[in-house]
Amino acid sequence: MNRWAVFWVFATLGATGIAAPDQWWNPGDDRPLPAYVEYANASGRLGVLNADGLVTTDGHPFFEALGPNGRACVSCHQPADAMSISLESIGSRWTATDGTDPIFAAVDGRNCPNLPARDTASHSLLLGRGLFRIALPWPPVDAAGKTIEPEFTIEVVRDPTGCNSGPLYGIDGEKREISVYRRPRPAANLRYVASSGFGVSPFIGKTGMLAAIDPDTSRPVNMNMMADAREVTLKTQAMSAARGHLELTKGLSEQALNRIRDFSCSCMRHRRFRARAVCSMSLTDRQDSARPPWLRGVTVCSATIRRTT
Ligand code: HEC
Repeated sequence: MNRWAVFWVFATLGATGIAAPDQWWNPGDDRPLPAYVEYANASGRLGVLNADGLVTTDGHPFFEALGPNGRACVSCHQPADAMSISLESIGSRWTATDGTDPIFAAVDGRNCPNLPARDTASHSLLLGRGLFRIALPWPPVDAAGKTIEPEFTIEVVRDPTGCNSGPLYGIDGEKREISVYRRPRPAANLRYVASSGFGVSPFIGKTGMLAAIDPDTSRPVNMNMMADAREVTLKTQAMSAARGHLELTKGLSEQALNRIRDFSCSCMRHRRFRARAVCSMSLTDRQDSARPPWLRGVTVCSATIRRTT
């Protein structure tokens, strides 16, 4: 292929928005994350903005594999997937690595850690629905690790993965865990999600119950993070992600926690546009008189608009 043919292929790929091969981030890739970058996907284009500018990922605790299983935060919070991870990316990694990518680690990449390795059936919730196992301690513990006496009991009614009633990982098992299965929430726009400024009081408006307290500042927090609000701040969240998903036994240093928090607060994601959209235009059409008064004078165009750039 001559020089011009190569140029033409790259120009065409750019124009049609086909995913560039380097859009998957492996831990320790060490390439910088630009201040603003766009990615194409099946439903349009998304943009990832870093309000603090270009991010040097070399040595950055969000981008480096810190624990023994080879994962980094970026493994499950990929820029090209709007700082989450898509089902397509999970499937591609399975094919490209024959199921050995760190995202398939036994701890939470299998339906239950004791299922056989590299067997699609063991990873069916991740491969089919993008769900990672979240192991919650039973009985629950507070941020300081102190057991909370629950005011209710829990019993297993149905257990398709076998994990919740198993002898090791089950509720009554040796480890006393409750396994729930969840999608990674995007590690972006967190400046707003985790904000505890305006409107945060010692009581939760909806329930009148006491709000959780930030262990660093002793101030109440908004309790908007995670599906169950179990993490109070970005720092406590990063610490438990490091222990859980990265299997880091010693936890993270204060400096690493601050860098992760600062990155999470400066990283924003947005949908640049949808590939298919229904348009409405201010033109009259033939059926105008047959319409309700509030729709007259407006043509609702049912054409599908396809944008490729
Ligand atoms: C194996 C995949 C995986 C890895 C690795 C991982 N996460 Fe997550 N992350 C998740 C899942 C799943 C959730 C949702 C958990 C829930 O709701 O219980 C989540 C949720 C979050 C949230 C909550 C966002 C919100 O809006 O509530 C933040 C912040 C986050 N992760 C940051 C991190 C950081 C920082 C690291 C690295 C220390 C990390 N994650 C590593 C899978 C992962």
